Amino acid sequence: LRRSLSRQQISGRGLWLLPVFLCGLLVACGDEAAPPVAPEVFLERHWFRPIAPQGPVPAGFSAQEAALDPDACGNCHVQQFTDWKTSLHAKAMGPGVLGQLLDMAADATDEHQACIRCHAPLAEQASSLSQAIARPRAAGRQALLHEQGLACAACHVRQHVRFGPPRRDGSVPQAGDKGLPHGGWKASAAFEDSRFCAACHQFKEGDFALNGKFLENTYEEWKASRYAREGKSCQSCHMPERRHLWRGVHDEQMMKESVKVTAAAPVRAGDTVQASLAIRNTGSGHRFPTYVTPKVIAEIYQAGADGRLLQGTLQQHVIARLVELDLSREISDTRLAPDEEAMLDYRAPMDRRAAYLVYRMRVEPDAFYTELYKSLLASGQAVRGKTMIGAALANSQRAHFTFFEERRPLRGVDVAK
Ligand code: HEC
Ligand code: HEC
Ligand code: HEC
Ligand code: HEC
Ligand code: HEC
Repeated sequence: LRRSLSRQQISGRGLWLLPVFLCGLLVACGDEAAPPVAPEVFLERHWFRPIAPQGPVPAGFSAQEAALDPDACGNCHVQQFTDWKTSLHAKAMGPGVLGQLLDMAADATDEHQACIRCHAPLAEQASSLSQAIARPRAAGRQALLHEQGLACAACHVRQHVRFGPPRRDGSVPQAGDKGLPHGGWKASAAFEDSRFCAACHQFKEGDFALNGKFLENTYEEWKASRYAREGKSCQSCHMPERRHLWRGVHDEQMMKESVKVTAAAPVRAGDTVQASLAIRNTGSGHRFPTYVTPKVIAEIYQAGADGRLLQGTLQQHVIARLVELDLSREISDTRLAPDEEAMLDYRAPMDRRAAYLVYRMRVEPDAFYTELYKSLLASGQAVRGKTMIGAALANSQRAHFTFFEERRPLRGVDVAK
């Protein structure tokens, strides 16, 4: 009896100590000393969609603190706002998306939600969108909330409460921190977790798949890579120093850093030129590229003394997951998993005018969308959204760029033994 009594006393004491111990261990305890919520539990709630309306503004909030507009946040969080403004998250309601939404009924809110759950997920954006479809307004006025795309508040604000990662020194707001704007804020380690991004960059059980693979599988691709094992999160590559830039396949510098390209010198065998281009995914934390929408093209061609392409000498290797426009079929998948390599083997008759061999890597970041917009316009499906889809088509074609180019002289090259 004595023994069991003391065990009870000990366990009772242990239970009482547990929250205190955890608080000491994980600095992430909120001001009410509530036990920290595990990232997966936090994220389940945080990214439950449709997101609930923010509700009534807390007493004592100024108009600026109550506003959900990124401009308002930008008054104080200057760096994040300046970065975000240049990012594709800020352009997530560009003409390609909005043009398609305009051809939906104003009250088809489930249909809207199927797109804006990722592109403009706030409840306040859903209602601003419905109103805009019902009553279009003139251009040139101040941007409406839904037009602001993936706004700060979509990632950081629920029920007017701000959530963010612990401060850079690891500390979090304390009960004594009075006088912080917007009633202070709550810290969660979930912001530093790759699963935060998976909410929109990873399809789940039951979502659309082709050839047994989800249409969006970025998180799983990352999880299977060495980056996950090394603790290199999405944020470490896409938000270095917590910058809000999210550069990706549309950015030249990012593309230069994503692969190691090695051009083997040309060799001549009789009238034939041989060469190769090796492309290794050394810097992309998932498949290169991860989606069905971009097309990366490795190419080698012969050029005249003026550097111009000589017709008939071009050979290419496309790195992409190509799918039919109606998503009925996967055509091919040549994307590179992290550390995987592809090779373009060049072999062609030597053009007598050839002075150089040119090795090149190009990307068409929106190749799939170019075809989609063309078909929306040709089939007459784009009606109210026609002008916007036309603008999106032009943007998608302007997005092309070359991120690697090398020239080797062809005159006097070694003849293969
Ligand atoms: C009046 C100035 C002001 C406005 C407006 C404002 N903030 Fe803040 N915000 C602050 C200050 C000051 C802090 C406290 C920083 C600290 O405690 O280290 C803060 C903290 C935060 C944090 C936590 C930072 C961290 O380290 O995790 C987030 C996230 C945040 N704000 C988001 C927003 C968003 C989103 C908006 C707009 C919807 C907004 N804020 C509007 C001043 C402002
Ligand atoms: C796509 C979601 C997303 C959007 C949109 C977004 N943020 Fe963040 N923000 C994050 C994540 C994730 C982090 C933490 C990054 C990390 O820990 O590496 C963060 C960090 C922060 C921090 C803490 C910065 C620091 O240096 O400690 C502030 C403040 C902040 N965001 C404000 C904003 C503001 C203001 C906007 C809009 C102009 C905005 N965020 C838009 C996801 C987002
Ligand atoms: C609420 C949904 C949502 C969340 C959460 C989110 N994203 Fe995005 N992200 C998008 C959408 C939508 C786009 C496409 C925007 C466009 O071009 O229309 C995008 C675009 C991007 C791009 C640009 C890719 C390119 O084509 O160049 C990168 C990089 C990116 N996201 C990384 C991240 C990372 C890292 C996180 C986590 C910190 C994250 N995203 C969280 C919805 C989201
Ligand atoms: C699960 C999140 C998610 C949903 C739902 C979603 N998108 Fe996207 N969308 C993305 C991401 C991520 C990108 C950027 C990567 C890419 O280009 O594929 C993107 C890119 C786009 C683009 C090209 C970039 C741009 O801004 O022009 C268009 C157009 C687009 N989406 C339209 C739609 C439409 C229309 C719907 C609804 C039928 C929809 N999306 C639903 C995540 C989503
Ligand atoms: C080791 C660095 C690294 C990590 C980790 C990483 N990325 Fe990337 N990501 C890149 C590079 C480099 C590119 C540009 C090349 C490419 O498209 O693959 C890119 C491209 C993208 C794109 C553009 C679309 C496309 O088709 O490629 C999106 C969206 C994206 N990343 C999201 C994520 C998400 C979400 C995570 C985490 C699950 C993540 N990334 C982890 C480096 C990284």
